Amino acid sequence: MKELELMYEGKAKKVFKTDDEDLLIVAYKDDATAFNGLKKGTIVGKGIVNNRMSNYLCKILEEKGIPTHYVEELDERRTVVKKVEIVPLEVIIRNKAAGSFSKRLGVAEGTELKCSTLEFSYKNDDLGDPLINSYMALALGLATKSHYVTSKDKIEHAAETINEELKEIFKNIGIELIDFKLEFGRYHGEIILADEISPDTCRYWDIETHDHLDKDRFRRDLGDAEGAYQEVYRRLGLDK
Ligand code: TMP
Repeated sequence: MKELELMYEGKAKKVFKTDDEDLLIVAYKDDATAFNGLKKGTIVGKGIVNNRMSNYLCKILEEKGIPTHYVEELDERRTVVKKVEIVPLEVIIRNKAAGSFSKRLGVAEGTELKCSTLEFSYKNDDLGDPLINSYMALALGLATKSHYVTSKDKIEHAAETINEELKEIFKNIGIELIDFKLEFGRYHGEIILADEISPDTCRYWDIETHDHLDKDRFRRDLGDAEGAYQEVYRRLGLDK
C-alpha cells in the first residue's frame, strides 16, 4: 500500500490517496476544535487514542455483522480505510439527556430517557450542521425517495445495533455511553459505517463518579482532556 498525495485535511484528520483507488489512508492529528471550529486547541496524544480506539471498535462491530470502513492499522496514527461516498448526515444516538438535546428540550443533563433517541444533522459546516428530518432531506433533494428510505432504514438499524454493542463494551469498563455520533458512507452500493468512534464523537461518563471522559473536557474547559482520553484508552486495554 503506497501513500500518495494529501486529498483532504479536516479538523482532526488528514486523508491521503493511495495506489488503490478504493482505499484511503487516514492520519489522526492531536488538533481539537469545537463549536464549528471557533475554539481551537491541542489534546496531546489524542490522534493515537482516536485511531487505535476506532479501529478496535470497528473490528468488534465487524464481528457483530456491521460493515465498516476499517481495513488495516498502519501505525499508531494511520489507518487504511475504504473510500466511501459519505452520506451527508451526522447520526446522533442518545441514551441519556446531555449537550444540545438538554439545551434544546430544557432537560437537565444526565436525565434518564425512556428509550434511546436517534436524530440526524445535515453535515454542512457553513450552516453549523443543523438538525434535519426526512421531509427536509427529501425536499432538498439530498437523496431520491427510494434511495433515502432504504438508506435510512439501514442506517437506523445499524445505529441501534452499534448502540447496544458499544453500551455493553463501555459498561464493562465502568463507563456509561451517554450519546455518540456516527457517519455512514456508500461503498460499492453498500451502506457502511465510516469515520471514527472516539472520545471526540462520544460522551463517556464514569459510572461511579460521572466524570466526563471525552471531548467535553475540551469543549467546556473542564481540564485534563489528555488524562481523560488516556483513561478510556487504558481501560480498554489499548495501552499494552
Ligand atoms: P450534541 O449534544 O452537542 O448534539 O452532541 C451529541 C454527540 O455528538 C456527542 O457525543 C458529541 C458528538 N458530536 C460530534 O461528534 N461532532 C460534533 O460536531 C458535535 C457537535 C457533536
